[in-house]
Amino acid sequence: MNDDYQLPPEFADKYGPWALIAGGSEGVGESFARMLAGVGINLVLLARREGPLDSLASSIRSEYEVEVRIGSVDLTRAGLLAQVTALTGDIDVGLMIYNAGSSIGYNRFPDWKSEDLDFMIKLNCHAPVHLAHHYAKGMCERGRGGLMFLSSMAGFSGSAWMTIYPATKAFDQMLAEGLWHDLKPSGVDAMCLVLGATKTPSHAHVAFDKFTPDGGMECDDAAWEGLSHLGHGPLWVAGEGNRARLPEGFIEERAIAIDRMSWGTAIINDLEHQPATDATRG
Ligand SMILES: NC(=O)c1ccc[n+]([C@@H]2O[C@H](COP(=O)([O-])OP(=O)(O)OC[C@H]3O[C@@H](n4cnc5c(N)ncnc54)[C@H](OP(=O)(O)O)[C@@H]3O)[C@@H](O)[C@H]2O)c1
Repeated sequence: MNDDYQLPPEFADKYGPWALIAGGSEGVGESFARMLAGVGINLVLLARREGPLDSLASSIRSEYEVEVRIGSVDLTRAGLLAQVTALTGDIDVGLMIYNAGSSIGYNRFPDWKSEDLDFMIKLNCHAPVHLAHHYAKGMCERGRGGLMFLSSMAGFSGSAWMTIYPATKAFDQMLAEGLWHDLKPSGVDAMCLVLGATKTPSHAHVAFDKFTPDGGMECDDAAWEGLSHLGHGPLWVAGEGNRARLPEGFIEERAIAIDRMSWGTAIINDLEHQPATDATRG
């Protein structure tokens, strides 16, 4: 791994000693894994296919002084929490990255099979909610930790041909944003990392060069932007080109919008509000 991607030791103090990456066998998930191993954080890697999991785990064990556990798990199947409890019940997971979640194809809405719609909802909504819920408790008790959810530029707008994918990615953004405010008083950082076209193995066949001249971001660059921004706000959009497609101030304004909604929710229900921005202070 390139020295440019070396995280500072404080990162491991805050988000170690173990990180779980759901969708951690290849692509951006592999980049996260190598960067975290580089700062001494032990890894739990989940994905469906054993081959890529095995070969990444062996490669990381030989290059870094960390422990690696792997779980061949389908995140959309029942029994997920029992599987992760068996894998992680005896360790402190200080960082959970939910990376799995690509689109499964393109169709007019009536032509999707209902099982395809269910697959996307389970993969991008059900599993991240329950994994976050499972690990947030321990993080809050320890007063530190992090939760990162991957979303997509497609999650900022609906889109013909994909429909269900952007809808579930918008869900991931809202989940991360709410957790950012909700867990802040407990010392736990949550964020949404938004990617645009990225050269992951599952997208190797996609003609990204038809709309972006560089053919998409490198996985290492995308992962690095995410890890560098953890603890620095609820949302980050990787890649200058992707950020340039958003209205000015869009990223900064998310924190204000979340803070205002959290404040409104708190005052109408006589709940405690701890300001996260100047918008609701004083
Ligand atoms: N690539 C892009 O251009 C792009 C653009 C915008 C946003 N994103 C977002 O960035 C993230 C990573 O992208 P990607 O293209 O690498 O995603 P991906 O195709 O979903 O694969 C990422 C990882 O997740 C695992 N995975 C996928 N489905 C799984 C399941 N049902 N159960 C367990 N593991 C599963 C994969 O391994 P197995 O296949 O072995 O399970 C792999 O390790 C996704 O959340 C995606 O939405 C990507």
